[in-house]
Amino acid sequence: MGRKKISIIGAGFVGATAAHWAAEKELGDIVLVDIIEGLPQGKALDLFEASPIEGFDSRVIGTNGYEETKDSDVVIITSGVPRKPGMSREDLLEINKKIVESVVTEVVSRSPQAVLIVVTNPLDTMTYLAYKRSGFPRERVMGMAGVLDTARFRAFIAMELGVSVEDIQALLLGGHGDEMVPLPRYTTVSGIPLSQLLPKDRIDQLVDRTRKGGGEIVNLLKTGSAFYAPSAGVIQMAEAILKDKKRILPCCAYLDGEYGLRDICFGVPVKLGAKGIESIIEIELTEEEKLLLARSAESVRKSIAELKL
Ligand code: NAI
Ligand code: 2OP
Repeated sequence: MGRKKISIIGAGFVGATAAHWAAEKELGDIVLVDIIEGLPQGKALDLFEASPIEGFDSRVIGTNGYEETKDSDVVIITSGVPRKPGMSREDLLEINKKIVESVVTEVVSRSPQAVLIVVTNPLDTMTYLAYKRSGFPRERVMGMAGVLDTARFRAFIAMELGVSVEDIQALLLGGHGDEMVPLPRYTTVSGIPLSQLLPKDRIDQLVDRTRKGGGEIVNLLKTGSAFYAPSAGVIQMAEAILKDKKRILPCCAYLDGEYGLRDICFGVPVKLGAKGIESIIEIELTEEEKLLLARSAESVRKSIAELKL
């Protein structure tokens, strides 16, 4: 068995940084694709030139075409435009729709057995589009958002409590918009429920900061959006798949009745392994949590309707 192949479409901030994490972890050989001439080639060569220093044996190739992506195990889609201050993720829909559609067509014809992980925003809508256009089973098309959003929640909790990020486990459901649903009830610090360590009003503030976490970075950067944590998030998913780790992570999945929702891509806890999404885990929710989830689903549905598929 040769090395695994990971293709990353879009060699911008998220794509190139994802390539960096993947190479460091020696997840396999990496193909970076972008439409800008020289950009993927330059970044790939630069990254490969770091390999003797860092000691990783991953080949990294940059290209403006798709031939090199043939027979990829995992394809990560980051191509598209990011937000600028004042823009919502939804403002990106029209332009990113065309980009994701064309990319999916190129990718699936050459890698019919790949697992697709979408990063492009609006995330749930672009994942839905990739699922519909790929013709792949739902196990092999997913979106990255929950890993990022829970990482933000975990980071904020760690900062607040002055404890290691490693000890914080958190769960979050719903779409990758400001209506996402962090679940403090399912959040623990080394098994200790968060509610025993922080008062409710403080938890509420951290939940609110998490919901607006993407915007917080956009407002600081001004010229684009977050990329370190998003790229780390997508590589954690890729690693779970490539190493068949059976990790339980919040991912955007196509739902067919789970959580009472059908024909929508939405953030839920899943088991990730070699087959992709190997199961969707349904958890118990309070009436209030159900209400928040319904509100998030409503806004994702509106966005999916905009695709006019
Ligand atoms: P970026 O602008 O740095 O990179 C995007 C790259 O895509 C550019 O290099 C561009 O040339 C390329 N591209 C455009 N059309 C293409 C095509 N047809 N084929 C191949 N490449 C193409 O943007 P960045 O920061 O990397 O963000 C990428 C996307 O990811 C954005 O839509 C952003 O909103 C989204 N995002 C999603 C997150 C999530 O949690 N799901 C988190 C962070 C970003
Ligand atoms: C984020 O949450 C922009 O979706 C991106 O940072």
